[in-house]
Amino acid sequence: MTTYSITIHDRQRDQSYSLQVPADRYILHSAEGLGAELPFACRNGACTTCAVRVKSGHLRQPEAMGLSPKLQAMGYALLCVSYAESDLVVETQDEDEVYELQFGQYFGKGKVQIGLPLDED
Ligand code: FES
Repeated sequence: MTTYSITIHDRQRDQSYSLQVPADRYILHSAEGLGAELPFACRNGACTTCAVRVKSGHLRQPEAMGLSPKLQAMGYALLCVSYAESDLVVETQDEDEVYELQFGQYFGKGKVQIGLPLDED
């Protein structure tokens, strides 16, 4: 079986992992099996919690529904649904960085107002 070397820098925890991952398994799943503790939530390519910046190498992520082709082309990847296609170096995103890029345009800006103004007679 083909395996690749991957270095994952968890910037929030200032922790780096150097691992060998098989080409036919999701990177997040393989990394966890080797002891890495990385951010995740949905595990199905929808929430962007596991997003990383790809610094070098190639991967494929055909089920990354939470990441537009444009963001993929910019070098972002969702580790929970990514397969290595070469040796890789990746680093975790800033909190909500990819979520904002992907979904921020759909939400209004400003504070949420709770409740309705009271009528004062
Ligand atoms: S954990 Fe939600 S997109 Fe990967």
